[in-house]
Amino acid sequence: MEKRKILIQLDTDAHASVFDRVVAIDAGVDELFTYAGVEPEQVAGLVHGAIFTRHPRDLKRTAIFVGGSDVAAAEVLVAKALEAMIPAFGLRVSILLDANGANTTAAAAVRVAAKHLSLDGRRALVLGGTGPVGQRVGLLLALQGADVRLASRKLDRAEVAAEAIRARAPNASITAVAVAGDADLAAASEGCQLIIAAGAAGVVLLPASARAACKGLKVVIDLNAVPPLGVEGVGVTDAAKEYDEVICYGAIGVGGTKMKLHRAAVAKLFESNDQVMDAEQVYALGEGL
Ligand SMILES: NC(=O)c1ccc[n+]([C@@H]2O[C@H](COP(=O)([O-])OP(=O)(O)OC[C@H]3O[C@@H](n4cnc5c(N)ncnc54)[C@H](OP(=O)(O)O)[C@@H]3O)[C@@H](O)[C@H]2O)c1
Repeated sequence: MEKRKILIQLDTDAHASVFDRVVAIDAGVDELFTYAGVEPEQVAGLVHGAIFTRHPRDLKRTAIFVGGSDVAAAEVLVAKALEAMIPAFGLRVSILLDANGANTTAAAAVRVAAKHLSLDGRRALVLGGTGPVGQRVGLLLALQGADVRLASRKLDRAEVAAEAIRARAPNASITAVAVAGDADLAAASEGCQLIIAAGAAGVVLLPASARAACKGLKVVIDLNAVPPLGVEGVGVTDAAKEYDEVICYGAIGVGGTKMKLHRAAVAKLFESNDQVMDAEQVYALGEGL
């Protein structure tokens, strides 16, 4: 008989994400072990509890989910968890990173865009490109062959984020751009057929006038669900709604795809014990949805 599916939730926040717990149950997890406020030095002990309890052939029925609102802190937990595994003896379990929903949100945005546009060779602008979501959007677009412009209010921040993407996608066509105010948008968006706004919650990054001035624009996606929204004139629940012949999505409009990817990613963990699921792997799951 197959062992019960155990998901070990490592969360960096004082209270572990209820959202992630609900999705875990909906994805078919039998037992959810939740650890909140996890510090890097505590990870090895927790991972050892996971890998030393079941026979290696059963370790695909144990998996780890890393979450929390601080994406950088969660990335450190993932690195520590991988260090603590012993793959030479089959003593490892699969692991998924989706801190602050960054991977599933970015993957959903790029999947939604790809429904309407072939991304290869397409010029795309990512506003808020230095945040955890924006960087992942930039990475996934670049991996699909898009010609990406990654924007920040500060050029040096955009350069650092673009360099991090090049390290993960050496063939990426990616250019850092500074968008410090509305006046910079015309140059930054020139020739772009896709704009994804991944700016901080409650900040308008694309005013309606700038959207209208961007000739050739085909798809706009806003990931900010907190008013004022990131793309002026696009509603938070809009999904493939056309305004002036541009297909538009708001943050909740992308939410259905995000939820499907999140559930699929958790379910996928239990197929083998050797997966490390980050943005690229979550995006790949969209193929079958
Ligand atoms: N639907 C979901 O489930 C879901 C999940 C995760 C995130 N989100 C949303 O996705 C968006 C991106 O998330 P995130 O965590 O990556 O965002 P974030 O780190 O808070 O912000 C992204 C970028 O926005 C820019 N920014 C910050 N304050 C700004 C301001 N006052 N004016 C202009 N730009 C500003 C910053 O870039 P520079 O300083 O470099 O300019 C920052 O790196 C957010 O709106 C978030 O709420 C949605």
